Amino acid sequence: MTVQHQLWQGYQIIARGANRICVQDPASTDQCIKFDLPSEQAKPGLANWLRRRKAMLFPNNSFADQEFRKYKALEQRIGNAARNHIAQCIALVNTSFGRGLVCERVYNQNGTAAQPIYYYFEHESTLSSDALIDAIYKFGDFLLRHDIPLFDLNPGNLLVQLNNSDNKCTIYCIDLKSLGQCKEIIPLSLWFKPLRKKKIQRRISRLANAVRARKFRKSP
Ligand SMILES: Nc1ncnc2c1ncn2[C@@H]1O[C@H](COP(=O)(O)OP(=O)(O)O)[C@@H](O)[C@H]1O
Ligand SMILES: [Mg+2]
Repeated sequence: MTVQHQLWQGYQIIARGANRICVQDPASTDQCIKFDLPSEQAKPGLANWLRRRKAMLFPNNSFADQEFRKYKALEQRIGNAARNHIAQCIALVNTSFGRGLVCERVYNQNGTAAQPIYYYFEHESTLSSDALIDAIYKFGDFLLRHDIPLFDLNPGNLLVQLNNSDNKCTIYCIDLKSLGQCKEIIPLSLWFKPLRKKKIQRRISRLANAVRARKFRKSP
């Protein structure tokens, strides 16, 4: 959920996810910082607990480190095209509150904060579901064109950037930590491109159908 005018360790909160908190970077309005949340503040559940445990046990394996490495590898492979649909990961910072990941903050073209997809099913807006579905398929084309193995299309990880001039929008992924991961026991989708392609197409269609049906489960 988007939280306004609240502070975390002195930083202005932008939003909380299941495992991390996203705050405004005091150094620049164009940037935010994401911190791994301590266990007692993160979302409960075994899967999240295991992910956090793994992140804590190995050096340089915080979610911030994982996401930064994955972003840099992707940027190296596809260049600036990454910026068309993915918020740039800029740097890792060490603070007294732990390791943080400095990222480009996504705004709407009119300068207001971009919101996750699910926001548009709880709030009045001028955005039509057709425009949102169109943007979701464009995002899918981007994943397929560059063969990006991103399967976690959780609507909390996808922000909608509203255009100024027309009733159009662009989807930005703001959470890459699951890039290159899939929940298959034998990860065939990671090994074989045609399976990968089909899986991405299925995930995109499922998201578009959820928009059509307006069956939005609120998620971080
Ligand atoms: N680059 C960004 N620009 C604007 N908001 C962001 C950005 N990154 C994250 N957020 C906000 O913070 C929330 C949690 O971030 P996320 O990286 O998904 O954390 P988690 O690892 O807990 O899933 C997102 O749902 C989004 O609302
Ligand atoms: Mg997330």
